Amino acid sequence: MSNIQPLYLRPNVQVEPLIDHWYAWPHLIPPATAARNITERHLKIMDSYISAPMIHANAVKNPKMLGGPFIDYDGKRVDEIRAVRDRIRKDRAHLIELSAALQSLDGMLRETARGYGLQPLYQNIPGILRGYVELVYDLNNHPSFRLIEPLLYKSRFYDRSQQSLMLSKISSDDRPFVLSTPRLESDDTLHLRLPFDSPIVDDLFRLKSNPLPWHEIKEMLQIRDSQDDLVHSLFTTESPLSYAPYQGPGVRWRYFGHACILIESQGVSMVFDPVLSYTYESATSRYTYLDLPDSIDYVLITHDHQDHILFETLLQIRHRVKNIVVPRNNRGHLQDPSLKLLFENCGFKNVIELNELEEIQAGNVRITGLPFLGEHADLDIHTKMAWLVRIGPHSMLFAADSCNIEPKLYEHLHQEVGDIDALFLGMECDGAPLSWLYGPLLTQKLERAMDESRRLAGSNYEQGMQIVDCFHCREAYVYAMGQEPWLNYVMSIKYTDQSRPIIESNKLIRACQERGITAERLYGEKEILIEPKAAVMAQVPLAENT
Ligand SMILES: [Fe+2]
Ligand SMILES: [Fe+2]
Repeated sequence: MSNIQPLYLRPNVQVEPLIDHWYAWPHLIPPATAARNITERHLKIMDSYISAPMIHANAVKNPKMLGGPFIDYDGKRVDEIRAVRDRIRKDRAHLIELSAALQSLDGMLRETARGYGLQPLYQNIPGILRGYVELVYDLNNHPSFRLIEPLLYKSRFYDRSQQSLMLSKISSDDRPFVLSTPRLESDDTLHLRLPFDSPIVDDLFRLKSNPLPWHEIKEMLQIRDSQDDLVHSLFTTESPLSYAPYQGPGVRWRYFGHACILIESQGVSMVFDPVLSYTYESATSRYTYLDLPDSIDYVLITHDHQDHILFETLLQIRHRVKNIVVPRNNRGHLQDPSLKLLFENCGFKNVIELNELEEIQAGNVRITGLPFLGEHADLDIHTKMAWLVRIGPHSMLFAADSCNIEPKLYEHLHQEVGDIDALFLGMECDGAPLSWLYGPLLTQKLERAMDESRRLAGSNYEQGMQIVDCFHCREAYVYAMGQEPWLNYVMSIKYTDQSRPIIESNKLIRACQERGITAERLYGEKEILIEPKAAVMAQVPLAENT
């Protein structure tokens, strides 16, 4: 490879953001929520692997155990896992102590807060937590606490030095499930100790489209001579195909997989829940990182689940994003950390929080936050929003995993916003039980029957159809089903024709089609152009119905 010609970062270089060698999903960043995950998820999984690695090796081969708490190293590399565990125990001792303090605070409140004044109890708060929590009751005298999250991010509990990026080449969709297996280094990985908010992260990803000479790259990433060959292999002199933005007079949307959709219209671009595939040969056609505009006006996040906030993608596009829009929340609950604080502490600028029914306007585009019920195991979580986008007379609702547990909500919303042309709805109507995602945050054992009854489930056929009917939708797209093979590493879903989400969404699609509503379950890639004439046409019945 030339040392003179400028080099681009290859489009098939996978970049995994890590914290303590664990894949950085959003619950590993807010300090208190991360502390609980370290002790109740990571250390427990690693302890179990170290004592019985072959149990893990067998479990990961069983499709029924997909997404379970098992390390996927074929029973090998036990010494390296032990080293990771021991380092976490040593370097993260204060977070381990914080996690225990949260547990004992919960216990203390349960046992001693009986509806009388809480002030005397402050002296019983574990020392490490004092000054970081306020004790509160709800209106029925149930005690709890709120974390002062901004202060926790300023404290030693938020430690950027544990953040890193692991680079390696990827040539197929086959990636192990990352939430239960720590990432270990190997000969073909480049492990960069970089905090996520470092400007070097942006400089690195600019190299996908703006090349630099080798010596500058080497200096920027502080590469040792012994790593020259490995790092060189991640770069190429070949320039990527440049992206042609949509410049037509209408609206163009493109489906990138799961809940990721790009909309371009009259110079405004928006990406919803960005999760992007790298670029390599594959039987499943798709849009990739190469199909994004150089500048993205708005990234919009629907909710705080790992398949909707993917740092791996978000960090790579951060330098292109002008604004990131998130559901408003800063209530200090372990299960509902503030997204604004989370993104700002990871180096994102212009994080805009919107409340339900609040909106932003950019040119001809109006974006309104609509309530998103359910899909969070009945936990008090506010970080979730469906986004209604209105461009001229055309309207689209990105409802993500909204579960229509209360149809009256949509009747009220219809009064406010009128008919909606196109609905995008996730229908993962089985959903994992509460403990799968939120278990580490619980400080008491949850009965199995309760756990099973409280699921991360999206809408079923009836619930979805009620939304379609209520808004008199002309198009209904089932999306966010986790079916794209390049997302297995965060989804752990494998549907068959007999899976309920497939049966229920098939029913919805059929019912819509019988009524003349365009409907399909999105998979892989899709492009729709809405001509301005069609948009004007859509206005006629819209006016009749409202
Ligand atoms: Fe979700
Ligand atoms: Fe989802």
